[in-house]
Amino acid sequence: MMPQVTHRVPPKPVRPVLDPSTLAAFVDTLPIPGIVRSTELRPSPDGPKLRIPYYRLAMRQFQAKIHRDMKPTRLWGFGSSSPGPTLETESGKGMLVEWANELPREHFLPIDHSIHGAESDKPDVRSVVHLHGAKVPPESDGYPENWYVPGKSATYYYPNQQDAALLWYHDHTLGVNRLNVLAGLFGLFVVRDPVEEALNLPRGKYEVPLVLCDRMFDLDGQLYYPVAQNSTNPWVSEFRGNAILANGKLLPYLDVEPRKYRFRVLNAANGRFFRLALTNGQTLQQIGTDQGLLPAPVALKQVVLAPAERADLVLDFSDHAGEQIVLKNDFAQPVMQFRVSRTKVSDSSSLPAALRPVPRIAESEVVKTRDLRLGEINDLRGESVAVLLNDAHWNMPVTENPVLNSVEIWNLMNVTDDVHPIHLHLVRFQILDRRRFDAFAYQNRGVLKYWGDAIPPEPGETGWKDTVRADPGMVTRIIMRFEGFAGRYVWHCHILEHEDNEMMRPYDVIAGR
Ligand code: C2O
Ligand code: CU
Ligand code: CU
Repeated sequence: MMPQVTHRVPPKPVRPVLDPSTLAAFVDTLPIPGIVRSTELRPSPDGPKLRIPYYRLAMRQFQAKIHRDMKPTRLWGFGSSSPGPTLETESGKGMLVEWANELPREHFLPIDHSIHGAESDKPDVRSVVHLHGAKVPPESDGYPENWYVPGKSATYYYPNQQDAALLWYHDHTLGVNRLNVLAGLFGLFVVRDPVEEALNLPRGKYEVPLVLCDRMFDLDGQLYYPVAQNSTNPWVSEFRGNAILANGKLLPYLDVEPRKYRFRVLNAANGRFFRLALTNGQTLQQIGTDQGLLPAPVALKQVVLAPAERADLVLDFSDHAGEQIVLKNDFAQPVMQFRVSRTKVSDSSSLPAALRPVPRIAESEVVKTRDLRLGEINDLRGESVAVLLNDAHWNMPVTENPVLNSVEIWNLMNVTDDVHPIHLHLVRFQILDRRRFDAFAYQNRGVLKYWGDAIPPEPGETGWKDTVRADPGMVTRIIMRFEGFAGRYVWHCHILEHEDNEMMRPYDVIAGR
């Protein structure tokens, strides 16, 4: 039942690219991003008597060693690393983050000036940061048009009134988002709460963040981003790199003890879907998804992650002392290696059979159901030139305008050949089902004809989500309550090449009466 991901053949690189299989595998240790410390308290926007932690994170250009045998690579990141340092908070404890743009004035990746929002009159280097998965007031959400240039900064307020979850921050600049993220502008944000705390899951050094992405490097070890043959319109419809990075390293290893570990995995790739499995066939216990814990652990042999999706995994190495286990993608490409030590250790952490209830949103509460078409515009040769939501471009008037606190169902009707991971800002949602339909009849005659029965979400998708795979030729139904704040947000495909080229729409949450 796993969807087939169909992809157009990516353009051939015009420069020779590095073949990662020519490099020694597992010679670098897996880096763990540092945790940012707050240096001062400042008045909260919610009440000046309340003082909350203030952080400052600067976007900079630097050089990083991706692999022992590669020359240093020019990257952009927060502070001096990519992924940037991790922000951590307790649920309900607000914070202020000043996102400072200290990048150089020139971009090192190919900008397509024919894309909306990236016209030649716009500065090449601009940024705006979005906290993916966070319930934040609209002015702190990182609206794609609210970008600013080097030398400027924006201070955002994160109330963090939400359940424990792994969120992530990343650039969201209109028209160059795919390039800024590829350059390295992303990092993790962890929300903790007492419910999760009480479960006694592996913690401290036994809780390991794992940020995965794919890249392509030239023979000098520099990032390579492909361009289309057409030099005035270099946009490519999807980026797939041949080098998979874990926490910014190519083919790293991690020394582990024979005991339980918790891995908090994020797919931070522009367009690659990961299918993760272990070489020893070991079971992965999935305990959480995008917006936090699942009701109960799900035992899997393979974990599928679309761009921007997260999986919270518990791996038990206790029966594997002395083994070397490789985490693979697509059953073939190695991602990283676990080296399990021989010495027996005691493990007082648990993997409880029940985690956190996920109360289902009742369909009887739905006040509006929207049919939203995921489509694309092709040129005469059938090549994709833009990808659209409901036939609308970014700059057309808002069409999705849910009322604050109301419940809606969105039917994501995918008439394209691609899987589109659809993400909504502000809200968390539940997946109701997916159902095959006659996309051709729908596209051409507006007739909705289903083929077969509705398929329930996979076990690992039964928690709170903020990104969902909308499979080709399927209607994917999601249900959500538009809670938190009224105002302007966005929803979009998280394949960044699509998002940059029109597969993103503003939406308004309207204050109720
Ligand atoms: Cu990962 Cu619009 O966000
Ligand atoms: Cu988001
Ligand atoms: Cu897409």
